[in-house]
Amino acid sequence: MKIGYIAAKIFALFALLIVLYGFVVPSVGFHGTLERIKDGKAEEIPSYVYPLWNFYQKGRYVSINTPQKARGDLQKMIEISEEIGVPSLPVWNFSLEAPNYPKEAFPYGLPVYIHFDGLSGEVHEMNTINHYVGMARMERGGIYERALAPYALIMLAMLLALFIIYNNKWIGRLMIIPVILPLVFIGIYGYWLYWFGHNLHGGAITIEPFMPVILGDGKVAQFTTHAYPVIGFWALVAVSILSLLAWWLKARALRGVPGKTASLQHLFMVIVLTAGIGAGAYVLKTDIEVDTLGKISAFVDASKPKIPVESTIIEPSESEKEAIQKEREEERKEQELKIKALEERAGSAGKFKVSQIYKSSCAPCHGVNGEGNVGPKLIGLKKDDLLKKILEFKTQEEEMHIAVIEFMSDEEIEQVIEEIAQFEAQ
Ligand code: HEC
Repeated sequence: MKIGYIAAKIFALFALLIVLYGFVVPSVGFHGTLERIKDGKAEEIPSYVYPLWNFYQKGRYVSINTPQKARGDLQKMIEISEEIGVPSLPVWNFSLEAPNYPKEAFPYGLPVYIHFDGLSGEVHEMNTINHYVGMARMERGGIYERALAPYALIMLAMLLALFIIYNNKWIGRLMIIPVILPLVFIGIYGYWLYWFGHNLHGGAITIEPFMPVILGDGKVAQFTTHAYPVIGFWALVAVSILSLLAWWLKARALRGVPGKTASLQHLFMVIVLTAGIGAGAYVLKTDIEVDTLGKISAFVDASKPKIPVESTIIEPSESEKEAIQKEREEERKEQELKIKALEERAGSAGKFKVSQIYKSSCAPCHGVNGEGNVGPKLIGLKKDDLLKKILEFKTQEEEMHIAVIEFMSDEEIEQVIEEIAQFEAQ
């Protein structure tokens, strides 16, 4: 009986350590950081967050957009406004392959990692593609679950700790939670995938509602997708198996033995409760400071489909127009920076260099060198035909193009046409 009893506690201790190291420490420690960065309040980020994030970054996916000197350095990442992922162990990976993400530049395709408490990887890029097919932004998925994750993880760690300390029947029964955790994750993940595939609004490309693939390879529009579990999921499976073993061994060892509790156990319990409640209070304080609830409801509202009211289109006022113009300008600048970084790091991804405006406006659909992708091949088209087509698109407000052409000045359009007409010669 002794050996089974001790083994049960050791197994539960391993499960606890995995939960603490892989999930609780990074998610509680990092909590609120991305919100503070977004709000321009990076100075409010506690100083220990920097070494914490840097530590967990080892061995993680790094975007080729990220300059060498900023990799694994949160301070520099914030300074250059790079995309920052959460540090907890990633549980699931979703990646996308497409001709405009060539293998040399994107050896992993375009990956996004799903964590309990957030995302990492090429989220911004993925959102741009999702936008083409009318899919919501990735951050919309699991928006409530993500906010609750740090609390839930703290409670999970407390449960495992209490299981180690006490021989209580009820605590034993609650071990079902860590046992089924991998399934709970897949359930929630699957639900949100379904949601994404069935909430398509106003994309440039219209596709039928569909169920994205949870595990394995699939296809969305022109893209090949891959989805599979990564290290965090295997950590959850380990926690599940360890919890099941611990529970079973302890129940067997204690059968028929009257329970007795020593005061040392109470002392440990007080320590666990203090630590757990303290961590929970810290997360709550952070949530209040960064206004998590307000942000969630604003984000959910903003992602609701807009119902066009044809008869009451109001011309935006001068100041609104100015604001829109400025926003576009900023978006364009951000894109240009990204593309520049990409070129510096990967060489030119295509066969020959193209302008940034072509890359950001036309390449996603027509390929980096006009070889065609979602849209047809542009190589070999003559200047006059191109001009005619573009004017046609403009006057007919053709849905594939109006969104990009609208943002371009006449000179820019001329410039791009000039450029495409030269593709054949190159
Ligand atoms: C959202 C995806 C998308 C974007 C962005 C896009 N196109 Fe297209 N384009 C298409 C599709 C799809 C077609 C074919 C359908 C059609 O002709 O209406 C097409 C057709 C064309 C054609 C006609 C080709 C032919 O052989 O008749 C031209 C020219 C063209 N695009 C130019 C451009 C230029 C220039 C840009 C950048 C300013 C651009 N497109 C951006 C999707 C796109």
